[in-house]
Amino acid sequence: MQQAMPQDMPQDMPQNSNHTRLLEPIALRSLACPNRVFMAPLTRQRAQQPGDIPGELQAEHYAQRASYGLLITEATQISPEGKGYPQTPGVYSEAQIAGWKLVTDRVHAAGGRIFCQLWHVGRVSHVAHQPDGQPPVAPVAARSKGYVSIRHADGRRERVEASMPRALETHEMARVIGDFAHAVSCAKAAGFDGVEVHAANSYLINQFLSGSLNQRDDAWGGSIENRMRLLMHVVDVAGEAFSYERVGVRLSPMGSANDLPHHHDDEALMERVAEELGKRRLSYLHLFNHYWGKDGWNGHFSERLAREMKARFNGPIVLNGYGADVAAAERDIEAGLGDAIAFGRLAISNPDLPERFAENAELAPWDDTTFYGDCARGYNDYPRMAAAR
Ligand SMILES: Cc1cc2nc3c(=O)[nH]c(=O)nc-3n(C[C@H](O)[C@H](O)[C@H](O)COP(=O)(O)O)c2cc1C
Repeated sequence: MQQAMPQDMPQDMPQNSNHTRLLEPIALRSLACPNRVFMAPLTRQRAQQPGDIPGELQAEHYAQRASYGLLITEATQISPEGKGYPQTPGVYSEAQIAGWKLVTDRVHAAGGRIFCQLWHVGRVSHVAHQPDGQPPVAPVAARSKGYVSIRHADGRRERVEASMPRALETHEMARVIGDFAHAVSCAKAAGFDGVEVHAANSYLINQFLSGSLNQRDDAWGGSIENRMRLLMHVVDVAGEAFSYERVGVRLSPMGSANDLPHHHDDEALMERVAEELGKRRLSYLHLFNHYWGKDGWNGHFSERLAREMKARFNGPIVLNGYGADVAAAERDIEAGLGDAIAFGRLAISNPDLPERFAENAELAPWDDTTFYGDCARGYNDYPRMAAAR
């Protein structure tokens, strides 16, 4: 959904070799994690309706994966306006807090740690998802050529073009930041160990960061300093509500998903963002790279940029985008490019990935036909390895 990524699983799954680095403990500032195998944020569109509420289904799902060093939830809208897809959960209502509390209690009881990924889709939405059928909001009134999906009353899903957005007024920026602050306090009330600010994959914060899109002429657009203002405000309200050490940020440097074209200052922007985030002693910086690790360094962004961002951030770096190429992930940790790996599709099909690494066990392939939707299949029914054997 979020990236134009290859969904195919390799015919021959690379098998385990030696995962000692991935299995080493890591401290995300004050949070001790038993290993460096993190679960990447994964939208699964199974929240209860009406109300976009997580429940027992999600509690079981995340608790099954409690042995991961850190779990990052599926992207979770901070407000009704932040929604762009069917049945994604929110974190702004009392019912959602109660639902997430089931999840965090189960994860903690199973010995795990879990952060909530905070999401506002901006213009990657459709009027069908917006309060009172209003247009989605964006830095500027320019439509995304990306697709979203809607769900009809009979349950049928349809892939549709994103709706034409309206530009946020300058005076509305405080309200949007307030919505993030409210969501952070809800995440805290729900028992999360921290939050991850979703500033990647061309959603609202990424739209504001973008030099190609954000041509606003007020304090929220134009220059790099202006374009990163929203991200820094969000990080600051989250840091104040939760403590900066419990706030992570996800970026997709040089990414162009959902129709966010490249801009000549993309690299300078990312370097400056990493530097500014580094001043805040955050929990971690999470970098998504589309083709990471396929044939050595073959990503959207260069190894030079990765190293520069790491140096400027000067804190824990989480890398993502390896598919099933675990050896490449290991190599990049060994090479000092990052400190932990967030596994996405492998986490869907391997609830016990750290144990499989420890035992050098076979890895289970994912089924991309059940990634999204309200079916029970393909969610909590991937077996643990003992059962698999
Ligand atoms: C089914 C699915 C849902 C995803 N949902 C999210 C999401 O909610 N938030 C996000 O930042 N990335 C999302 N992504 C991207 C993943 O977090 C990750 O970047 C991607 O799968 C690449 O990592 P991998 O190679 O380990 O699978 C999603 C990817 C998939 C396949």
